[in-house]
Parts: sequence; C-alpha cells; structure tokens
Amino acid sequence: MTITIKDAEGIVGMRAAGRLAGELLDYLTPLVKPGISTNEIDRLADAWTVAHGAVSAPLNYAPSGHNPYPKAICTSINHQVCHGIPNDKPLKKGDIVNVDVTVIKDGWHGDSSRMFVVGEASLAARRLCALTHEAMWHGIVRVRAGAHLGDIGHAIQQFAEAQGLSVVREFCGHGIGRKFHEEPQVLHYGRPGTLERLEAGMTITIEPMLNAGRREVREMGDGWTIVTRDRSLSAQWEHTVLVTESGFEVLTLSPGAPPAPAFVPRSPALASAAS
Ligand code: MF3
Ligand code: CO
Ligand code: CO
Repeated sequence: MTITIKDAEGIVGMRAAGRLAGELLDYLTPLVKPGISTNEIDRLADAWTVAHGAVSAPLNYAPSGHNPYPKAICTSINHQVCHGIPNDKPLKKGDIVNVDVTVIKDGWHGDSSRMFVVGEASLAARRLCALTHEAMWHGIVRVRAGAHLGDIGHAIQQFAEAQGLSVVREFCGHGIGRKFHEEPQVLHYGRPGTLERLEAGMTITIEPMLNAGRREVREMGDGWTIVTRDRSLSAQWEHTVLVTESGFEVLTLSPGAPPAPAFVPRSPALASAAS
C-alpha cells in the first residue's frame, strides 16, 4: 500500500528498461503500414524484446478480475481506447492505432505507447493524435518533487477540454518499477493541490486517453478491449517518468520518439536521449 522510491540502482534499472521500451517503439514504427496485421506487429515486438534480453510484461498478465492477457503488446484502433488485443485483421489506410509496449529488463518495467497514423488519415484523426501527445506533455511538465498528483491531472484535463476533447476517467497512469502497476494512481483529470505529493525517486506513467466525443467507455466481450460508448475516435500516448528534485526525467525517450512540444523546457536528459 505504499509508493516505492527508487534508489540509485533502481534508477539505473528503470532508465535501461524505459529506454528499451522507447527503442522497441522505434523498431515498430516503420512496420505500422496498411496491410500489416496487429498480430504480425505483436510477434515482431515479442521477438525483438526477447532478442534484447527482456520480457514482454503484458503476456499472461492477469490482474484480479481479468483473464490472462493473451498477447505481448496492446494495439487499440480508432474507437478503441486501450488494451486492444492484436488480431489477424490488416490495418487499413486512415486507421489510427495506439501501440502500447511494456518490457521487463533485469526486473524493471518500462511502459510507453504512441499513436500511429496508417497511411493518410482525416484531419480530425491527426488532430486528435497530435493534441493527445501535447496533453501528455502538459502533465509531464508538472512533475517535480513537492508537486501534487492533482496538478498533473488538472493540467491534462484543462488542456484537453479547452480543445473540445474529453478525458477518459476509468483508466489512469500508475506507479511502476519492479511491478507493472504500482501505487499511486495517476489520474488524467483533477484539481491542483490535491492528492499525494510527489517525491524524488518515484517513477510513474502519464498516459492520457482522450476522446473526440463523449468520455464514456465500455468493455468488449473479450474482457480487455475498451471502446468509446459513442464510437468516437480515441487516442493515447504514454511515457514512464522519474520524479527528480528539480523536475522530471522521461525514461522512455529514444531517438525515434516524437519531439516534445515547444513549451517543454530543454533538459540535459532530453537532449541526450534525442541524440
Ligand atoms: N500497458 C498498459 C498500461 O499502460 C497496461 C496493459 S495491461 C495488459 O498500463 F494486460 F493489457 F497488457
Ligand atoms: Co501504463
Ligand atoms: Co502502457
């Protein structure tokens, strides 16, 4: 029932796991094209992970109340919000797909997801993907020792709703470390100055799910896939972030990660991961 604080050794482990998750997404990026199935992406992702001395955390992951997750990654297409299960259906031009990967390297978890536009998509779909990326960063820049979790949620919600997008409430970011999902919950909505205070050495994910329509979601009969009730498009981005005294270090950056928006202060960690 407590939030874990990573010591120097834990931070080294979390950096390596986070970097590997980012590099896995870099490896998958050129594959996400019309005609490939999400099962093919899943098989390639798992093989790459194993070849890099790591394990796919989602495979057989079974939190209470769930059947074991059957695949190595999550692929959530169009109105799917999260936890989409890869299958044999080919991706088609105009789809937007979230690929969410979590690797376990030397016992530490790295968790990250990105949106991919398959071929050319509608302006509305591209805008949703871009604004959700920006929303994630509005949350990330609030991270520092002494800040409240509510500051993160508020920043994301305020930005999203000002753009006419809705914030999914049922799923949230989380502490992460030796376990996939640790305390605390990181809500993507809220009030400034509320909830737990962050401390240096905490590692959390920030992973907002934003809908073009209403915020309500439902679970499909497979027990995993979450979709928007109104079938509107949904997008999500995720990074794993270390809390530091002076701010944050994004652990899942890699050379292929889309650049942070211009409002994000340049830090040595950002500059080195981007090179
Ligand atoms: N990667 C997801 C997250 O960001 C969790 C997926 S759980 C799974 O927390 F079992 F669906 F893989
Ligand atoms: Co996560
Ligand atoms: Co994830």
